[in-house]
Amino acid sequence: MTQTIQPHGGTLVNRLVGGAEREALLKQAEGFYQLKINAWTISDLDLIGVGAFSPLTGFLGQEDYVSVVENMRLANGTVWSIPITLSVEDQVAAELSQGQDVALVGEADGVIYGVIRVESIYQVDQKNEAVKVFKTDDAAHPGVQKLFSRPNTYIGGAVQVLNRPQPEKFEEFYYDPAVTRQIFAEKGWRTVVGFQTRNPVHRAHEYIQKSAMEIVDALFLNPLVGETKSDDISADVRMRSYLVLLENYYPKDRVFLGVFPAAMRYAGPREAIFHAMVRKNYGCTHFIVGRDHAGVGDYYGTYEAQEIFSNFTAEELGITPLFFEHSFFCTKCGNMASSKTCPHTKEDHMHLSGTKVRALLRDGQCPPPQFTRPEVAEVLIEGMKEPEYQV
Ligand code: ADX
Repeated sequence: MTQTIQPHGGTLVNRLVGGAEREALLKQAEGFYQLKINAWTISDLDLIGVGAFSPLTGFLGQEDYVSVVENMRLANGTVWSIPITLSVEDQVAAELSQGQDVALVGEADGVIYGVIRVESIYQVDQKNEAVKVFKTDDAAHPGVQKLFSRPNTYIGGAVQVLNRPQPEKFEEFYYDPAVTRQIFAEKGWRTVVGFQTRNPVHRAHEYIQKSAMEIVDALFLNPLVGETKSDDISADVRMRSYLVLLENYYPKDRVFLGVFPAAMRYAGPREAIFHAMVRKNYGCTHFIVGRDHAGVGDYYGTYEAQEIFSNFTAEELGITPLFFEHSFFCTKCGNMASSKTCPHTKEDHMHLSGTKVRALLRDGQCPPPQFTRPEVAEVLIEGMKEPEYQV
């Protein structure tokens, strides 16, 4: 079998507890302090549990938190750019002490998803976290808004996962990192490029994916399906659009579709590093970073999410980032291109904003085929008829 890339930090973390041990811990956990957690935290917990966030074994303690926020590294020097934290109300923190085991309970369903052994209880300066992680403390930024809506006392410690969140749809596209690694190895893929997206795959996405596919063995299309901001297209509609696109335009034996059930942070450059490290854990050797990766509004420069990679050595990253220029359809060239390959001017380049595309789709109109494949547009138009888009 083909050798897969080393996970970040060297070992694929596994904090899932099964069998008799799980039964016993679940019973015990009923007697622990019951801390309510929301869908976002359940998703973080699960991703830690399955090793997608390797080398993290739990929510960050103070030392790692400070180091990640200030230096984009864990305290031991390992590259890590996004603080994965568990925040609690002050009155909850007052009831907890170091060394205590706490049950993590879904606020909506009462399920005990896991247990954390509290190693650190600390207060943070969320304004500083916002400025360092998101490069802004503007509360209009969706990531900053989320951050400021949480209490500023955090608890850190190793976790154990006792129950997994159940996907409502597309369950067959949920694969843990141990499984994707196994699959890539069995397929004999030595090089796999990961593609992060929170959008439908338009022609520009397809172009950069396929440009990458020319130099690697396979593509891992890994759409993020956790929490996104309300005007992003729902994961459900997007999944249908990926399937129809792959069916019609991609070689079946060189593409693998699996979801990334994480929340979107919109942290631009720092999130690009985080996205790359996580894809390494899923077994990717390469990772695509295009224009304004994980960006929102005008908070980040077009290529900042690429430039940030120069802070780290190739050895530290492990995974190879593949950078792509802003891509577009050029009417003079008659094909997809970027400023690296096209000599023509802006007037010859087709440009449609996300807002414009959504407006077209909502009106039941297909964007031009140079922008979106008609099969994809049809799925999106159908999807836009759903109540959540009728605003
Ligand atoms: S993201 O928030 O998940 O990064 P999106 O789904 O739009 O957003 O982008 C997925 C990937 O494609 C990112 O790496 C992004 O930089 C890249 N990308 C999106 N549009 C373009 C484009 N027109 N040209 C080049 N890269 C692009």
